Amino acid sequence: MVRMRRLRVNEAVRNLVRETNVCKTDLVYPVFIIEGENKKIPVESMPGIYQYSIDCFEEELERILKAGIQAVLIFGIPAHKDEQGSEAYNEEGITQRAIRFIKRKAPHLLVIADVCLCEYTSHGHCGLVCGHEILNDETLPLLGKMSLSLANAGADVIAPSDMMDGRVGYIRGVLDENGFKNTILMAYSAKFASGYYSPFREAADSAPAFGDRRTYQMDVANGKEAVRECENDIAEGADIIMVKPALAYLDVVKEVSKRSNYPVAVYNVSGEYSMVKAAAQNGWIDEKRIVMENIIAMKRAGAKIIITYHALAIAGWLDESV
Ligand code: PBG
Ligand code: ZN
Repeated sequence: MVRMRRLRVNEAVRNLVRETNVCKTDLVYPVFIIEGENKKIPVESMPGIYQYSIDCFEEELERILKAGIQAVLIFGIPAHKDEQGSEAYNEEGITQRAIRFIKRKAPHLLVIADVCLCEYTSHGHCGLVCGHEILNDETLPLLGKMSLSLANAGADVIAPSDMMDGRVGYIRGVLDENGFKNTILMAYSAKFASGYYSPFREAADSAPAFGDRRTYQMDVANGKEAVRECENDIAEGADIIMVKPALAYLDVVKEVSKRSNYPVAVYNVSGEYSMVKAAAQNGWIDEKRIVMENIIAMKRAGAKIIITYHALAIAGWLDESV
């Protein structure tokens, strides 16, 4: 008789045969930086997450380093927005200044810069707009300029999240021509038009003023197309590919990681975070158990890199368990 339970008998045996582990070096922590001074504003829909002005970010930076988290994903929120998102590629823009601040205080912390126009445009769309159309090719030079100025400010990784066609290749070209051959590209490759982003749009003040993002982000129904998106981004020069959101798309994570030998990242997005926090605050679930179960599932599906708002909490739990 096969006795599966032999290998479940105690903690040591279970640890010995465990197929998947989470460690701190897998995690990326997203941070939101706003203009002004002396500001630490809670994001109501994301308990535990705040928008910081640069001066107040120092205490959060210390928490990040102390927790042993080695990578952050930075979102800057400008005070001034316009049709072209000009603050996105202003050398003195909020994101550029925040990157310089982090790199000065913590040179070894990996800084991943999100590249997209929606936080910077008055209409809240990820690209240039003409009437109600979101322009593709006209947007690429702006994404190129933005990437260059973020790399110039010290970003180690450029992460385009706009979903314009051809942006990965375009950005790679701009970076290479300007001496940033070694800047890593992490592409939001299979980014779905998901309802799970709504708390983020409060955090980053980036909700579209009209329409939605369905003409550029992916249809949630499409798995094969997600594979093509990843293949395209790899062909254009992506170093890391990403699936986003995470939990409802683990089939995509699995498929993509089976088919490609590139590192796969998942973004455990704002709505996924908020649902867990809300249920935990009500006492309906055990937060630690549920978070760890979810993160393990992402890794089991094939993700190596996990972008999550739970990163600091997870680091704390991992410390407790050794
Ligand atoms: C910008 C961007 C978004 C997220 C990451 N980068 C929002 C969007 O596409 O609407 C979502 C992250 C999250 O929900 O946590 N394009
Ligand atoms: Zn966007």
